[in-house]
Amino acid sequence: MTAEKASGKGSIQPAKGKLGVMTVGMGAVATTLIAGVEAVRKGLAKPIGSVTQMGTIRLGKRTDNRTPLVKNFVPLADLDDVVFTGWDIFPEDMYEAAAHAAVLDRDHLQSIKPFLQAIKPMPAVFDQYYVKRLHGTHVKTGKSKCDLAQQLRSDIQKFKSQVDRVVVIWCGSTEIFLEPAPCHATVESFEKGLVDNDPAIAPSQIYAYAALKEGVPFANGAPNLTVDLPCMIELSRQTGAPICGKDFKTGQTLIKTVLAPAFKARMLGVSGWYSTNILGNRDGEVLDDPESFKTKEESKLGVLDYILQPEKYPDLYGNIYHKVRINYYPPRGDNKEGWDNIDIFGWLGYPMQIKVDFLCRDSILAAPIALDLVLFLDLAQRTPELRHLGIQEWLSFYFKSPQSAPGLYPEHDLFIQSMKLKNTLRHIMGEDLITHLGLEYYD
Ligand SMILES: NC(=O)c1ccc[n+]([C@@H]2O[C@H](COP(=O)([O-])OP(=O)(O)OC[C@H]3O[C@@H](n4cnc5c(N)ncnc54)[C@H](O)[C@@H]3O)[C@@H](O)[C@H]2O)c1
Repeated sequence: MTAEKASGKGSIQPAKGKLGVMTVGMGAVATTLIAGVEAVRKGLAKPIGSVTQMGTIRLGKRTDNRTPLVKNFVPLADLDDVVFTGWDIFPEDMYEAAAHAAVLDRDHLQSIKPFLQAIKPMPAVFDQYYVKRLHGTHVKTGKSKCDLAQQLRSDIQKFKSQVDRVVVIWCGSTEIFLEPAPCHATVESFEKGLVDNDPAIAPSQIYAYAALKEGVPFANGAPNLTVDLPCMIELSRQTGAPICGKDFKTGQTLIKTVLAPAFKARMLGVSGWYSTNILGNRDGEVLDDPESFKTKEESKLGVLDYILQPEKYPDLYGNIYHKVRINYYPPRGDNKEGWDNIDIFGWLGYPMQIKVDFLCRDSILAAPIALDLVLFLDLAQRTPELRHLGIQEWLSFYFKSPQSAPGLYPEHDLFIQSMKLKNTLRHIMGEDLITHLGLEYYD
């Protein structure tokens, strides 16, 4: 299968050699990703939740019976060829960090302990102004943000010399709420902002800039602006380093983007949607700060408006009350509980209620998303048609707040996103797109 994969259709470059994955932040999500990939490589567990590893894709007609695994259809890097490194503001190796995150149990961690111990984070670019609840000790120092960006670029260059291709993914903490500022208008103004230490430039943006300057794709798993800025889109297109974001769509929002399209498809009204969560991991602690919470809140709130389109359906969705709360509750650790109370109404306006209680595991849901994103971004960079597009909207499937072209509204409906993703794969491989029209079966 490998030779067939490597040849692909058109001129997609084969996934030859090592793929280096750099995670910014080596906390719960990153350690669960890295430990998980190693556990899968050793045959200790299955990559459940990963579309690239477990998903199939239908090709041609329903009667053709052609449904390969996604990873056998498009030339993706093999898990055996993936190598990890990254940065964190704490110096613990991946074993200690994973034990601290307490997502995976001791037995799982023990079986891959030497592998995890060998991965040690590089010092981070960090400033407590942007993440109030953390006190980093393992951080770089420099004269200016420009100097710090240079230091990150040398980290990336060094890693690049050891592998064949590199992808960077932000798995770091949620930064305070920021809005685009004049320094974000162009690459040139951003570079001036780096020299002038412009406060509108948060650490996550410095990482993104460094990666894109190095021609390295960048995915953003947090709700920070990071690559959602004109200067980053420009730079991404210039250097052919694809970008995508933002904020992994894991628990409550995943369910929301499944249920809301169902109500909308059946023209059922929604008068209120109250979502609350308790979680006790470090992410929860960071989000306990109102400024970081605001960033997350914005990301979680956008979803319903785009799916339900209240301006088009004022009778159904014009008066919806949407509230999102996140409460830090240490006893639960990474095992978040998310409650939704949904007030809907049907025929003649009669009210009904739906209650969802999702006892999820945050990072167990996030790790396969992070894996798919790095593999798909690497594929995008090897695909001439996708490489210079900048934003990879076909990866919306994985995000709470998907990035789309300026002026274009994002698609939040999980099923539209899934179709978009699979049709993109069919398209780059020269296969027919699937529209689900199906009239030909009745001719
Ligand atoms: N876990 C999920 O299901 C989920 C879902 C959606 C989004 N996210 C987002 O993903 C991110 C990571 O989540 P997590 O649960 O792994 O959190 P975490 O707190 O366990 O890990 C984040 C890590 O980033 C480090 N960090 C912070 N600032 C940094 C910087 N400037 N440079 C390098 N490292 C830095 C922290 O020290 C920490 O180790 C968060 O922003 C979170 O909101 C997580």
